[in-house]
Amino acid sequence: MISAAYPLVRPLLHRLDAERAHDLTIRGLQVLPQGTPVADDPCLAVAVLGRRFPNPVGLAAGFDKGARVPDPLLRVGFGFVEVGGVVPRPQPGNPKPRVFRLAADRAVINRYGLNSEGLDVVAARLRARAGRDGIVGVNIGANKDSTDRLADYVACTTALAPHVAFVTVNVSSPNTPGLRDLQGEAFLDELLARVVEARDAVGAKAAILLKIAPDMTLDALDAICATAKARGVQALVVSNTTVARPASLREGTLAKETGGLSGRPLFAPATRMLAQAWLRVGDAMPLVGVGGIDSAETAWAKIRAGASLVQLYSALVYDGPGLVGRIKAGLVEKVRAEGGTSITAFVGRDARVLAEG
Ligand SMILES: Cc1cc2nc3c(=O)[nH]c(=O)nc-3n(C[C@H](O)[C@H](O)[C@H](O)COP(=O)(O)O)c2cc1C
Repeated sequence: MISAAYPLVRPLLHRLDAERAHDLTIRGLQVLPQGTPVADDPCLAVAVLGRRFPNPVGLAAGFDKGARVPDPLLRVGFGFVEVGGVVPRPQPGNPKPRVFRLAADRAVINRYGLNSEGLDVVAARLRARAGRDGIVGVNIGANKDSTDRLADYVACTTALAPHVAFVTVNVSSPNTPGLRDLQGEAFLDELLARVVEARDAVGAKAAILLKIAPDMTLDALDAICATAKARGVQALVVSNTTVARPASLREGTLAKETGGLSGRPLFAPATRMLAQAWLRVGDAMPLVGVGGIDSAETAWAKIRAGASLVQLYSALVYDGPGLVGRIKAGLVEKVRAEGGTSITAFVGRDARVLAEG
């Protein structure tokens, strides 16, 4: 229903400020019927993180920060939904405007700054959906004015892990000053140890994922991969938005806005980083490939670069929810065209080539 209506409402939404359009979309998901999704082709099923994902196409963090609509989003056809980022205490984020559409580049720049209703509100919403089908995870961060960021991640894990399939530790948002510094080796090691400990202390089964930035050297990636592996992180999410501004961007004025760039221009650098991560830890943990997916071809490339699961956000702004079904149909065709019976057989097949970009 929502997918069918999107081509009609898109021009209206795009006349609005991007944040206002997003808020209306969330309202639409809350009130409009989505119907029942058709069952996914069995060749798309992926068994990772102790679960069976019906298909590998997930919604990336940041779309449903407050966990208002995970179930309507699952009915759109996503194989899993990551809600959040959530921080312990409510915070407003940066002043508006703070999200921009670079339409000619099929990209988005955002500097939300982890605006969040806070842990209690989001935990209550997730608790309320306990027992429902559908794989939902949560993305966690630290308050901007926190004096103990490590404690913030622990508090989020303690409160949220019991209600979700996975918790993604976000140390890669570019919009909270200093947050990316948490990717440094010594801090990261302690952070991951404490998060895993907090999850175990509440007896939760949630997998712990680590989401990284695309803007790092391969030496830094070496260190992160080694730390994640040693601390029992169950998957890496590659990647968050980039602070880089490729020379190819056509929306020159908007490109000067501060914030994280996502969408099509992120595809190449994030896929390269994903393939590099697969070469380092592909034998030890699954990877979630994110950044610039806007078609079956780009999703397939992420899988062949090393992703067991993929996520997307920015392309929804341009193509709407119908894109999810189109990507899944295209992936089924690709598996069949290669004579395969399971998409999992293709994970990492091109990692060596794609790592060089
Ligand atoms: C408006 C917006 C808000 C986002 N908020 C978060 C967030 O809270 N936490 C996070 O880890 N990533 C966040 N992201 C990053 C996305 O989850 C994703 O990693 C990135 O956008 C690349 O995927 P895409 O090119 O498909 O959009 C946000 C992205 C956008 C566009």
